[in-house]
Amino acid sequence: MIICGHRGVAALAPENTLAGLRAAHALGLEWVEIDVQLSRDDEVVVIHDDTVNRCSNGRGKVRQLEWPELVRLDAGGWFGAEFAGEPLPRLADYLEQAQAFGIRVNIELKIHPGDDAARLCRRVSEVVTRLSSPQDALLFSSFDPACLAHLRQLAPSIARGLLVEHLPADWHAQLLRLDCIALHCNHHNLTPAQANAVKAAGFLLHCYTVNDPARMHTLEAWGVDMIFTDDPKEYRPTA
Ligand code: G3P
Ligand code: MG
Repeated sequence: MIICGHRGVAALAPENTLAGLRAAHALGLEWVEIDVQLSRDDEVVVIHDDTVNRCSNGRGKVRQLEWPELVRLDAGGWFGAEFAGEPLPRLADYLEQAQAFGIRVNIELKIHPGDDAARLCRRVSEVVTRLSSPQDALLFSSFDPACLAHLRQLAPSIARGLLVEHLPADWHAQLLRLDCIALHCNHHNLTPAQANAVKAAGFLLHCYTVNDPARMHTLEAWGVDMIFTDDPKEYRPTA
């Protein structure tokens, strides 16, 4: 089972920052997951919430702030004094560093109410095309099926995963329609029978966000291919 650092390595470094990516590299991780959104001036910014309030010293909605304002924020000091001054990264900054480290990145496209999914997908696909990251180094995911449909058109060679809270009744049809390789499910809402069904249908099964070591091993026994965790050090491979 692959251990993917959630929002970088959210328990050990400020989430969705290059400090988190460095922490992932120090741990020898193969994969990290990040969240991306658009600034007002169309920069693809690595951040989870629709506002900068929780994870920086700024205030306001990401989509109402311009990159010159966002880049001045301290996105590390809220997490710990040793991270003070850590900036918010753009997707391009993040992918360049990930490529240098040889870390693969699951890019979760965050669509908050009122966001323009098509615009975010266009900009994300422009960034990944310009950087020409190896195809197997990237995986797109989103809770928004429309987003995945756009990405299928814009960047068909990059794999996609459908994010869900609960397995919907039509999960198989959705995965086929969106040409996804993976289902990303909240592990709290997954049953062993559902895990079996997803695997038997030939899809990868990825679970978020798993921080309990015993639960990691249970999911591994169910055939889960990858988990997202805030603290990869909690996982101890079985011999
Ligand atoms: O991509 C898995 C996980 O990150 C989804 O939830 O809210 O942490 O982005 P969230
Ligand atoms: Mg996420």
